[in-house]
Amino acid sequence: MVDPPNRPDQGFAAVDRYIESKLIGADVALAATLAANAAAGLPDIDVAPVQGRLLHLLARMAGARRILEVGTLGGYSTICLARALPDGGSLVTLELDPHHAAVARANIAQAGLADRVEVRVGPAIDTLAAMQSAGEGPFDLVFIDADKQGNVAYLNAAIALGRPGTTIIVDNVVRAGAILDPDHPDDRVRGTRALFDAVGAHPRLTATAIQTVGVKHWDGFLLALID
Ligand code: SAH
Ligand code: DHB
Ligand code: MG
Repeated sequence: MVDPPNRPDQGFAAVDRYIESKLIGADVALAATLAANAAAGLPDIDVAPVQGRLLHLLARMAGARRILEVGTLGGYSTICLARALPDGGSLVTLELDPHHAAVARANIAQAGLADRVEVRVGPAIDTLAAMQSAGEGPFDLVFIDADKQGNVAYLNAAIALGRPGTTIIVDNVVRAGAILDPDHPDDRVRGTRALFDAVGAHPRLTATAIQTVGVKHWDGFLLALID
């Protein structure tokens, strides 16, 4: 039986704001990004500030010089990740929607990161296939956060474009517990369940998933390392 999502969850959101105030602080470029996204009509589905900082820390811990992101939106997570790059590092981020990509490019530029970030527009599955054909990579860290129906295909592309030691992170793998339902009508949930099956069965991945609460409610992310 799935516990009902905690509502109201003011406590979770308030603790996120406490953590932000103590450990993250005001961030002009990220605040401007969220304002620009809202003004441009983008959905409010960026990673939470505390998770953006986690992505940044994971990229630095991994020593990532080349980062791949699937699902750009307005570039909030892109900025968090790209700031972790050393001089000469680069990030490629894939986005289906040209409007999202245009907003993201402007946000990335105002954050001072245009020199190290490339936004590629199109269905990620096609862009990833082209990247494999072109022999791009290896990427040191891959963040998957696009259409959840594509999660298994994006995982396989991340492995193909990775190397032993590559970090793979997948967003939104809990969805308020919806993933427990094998007959869930939402194909985004089925895509995420297929991801768990694929990761669990893969001979070259060591993985876990962590549930999260906070301003984005009850969700979670999957973390894997290519052996
Ligand atoms: N990573 C972002 C949020 C991404 S939201 C952040 O945290 O700031 C998911 C994005 O994936 C949306 O912008 C959506 O347009 C994009 N998307 C959906 N389907 C896609 C596809 N098939 N290929 C590439 N991008 C896709
Ligand atoms: C959705 C997508 C996301 O990447 C996210 O973090 C939250 C919600 C969505 O498609 O609803
Ligand atoms: Mg997400």
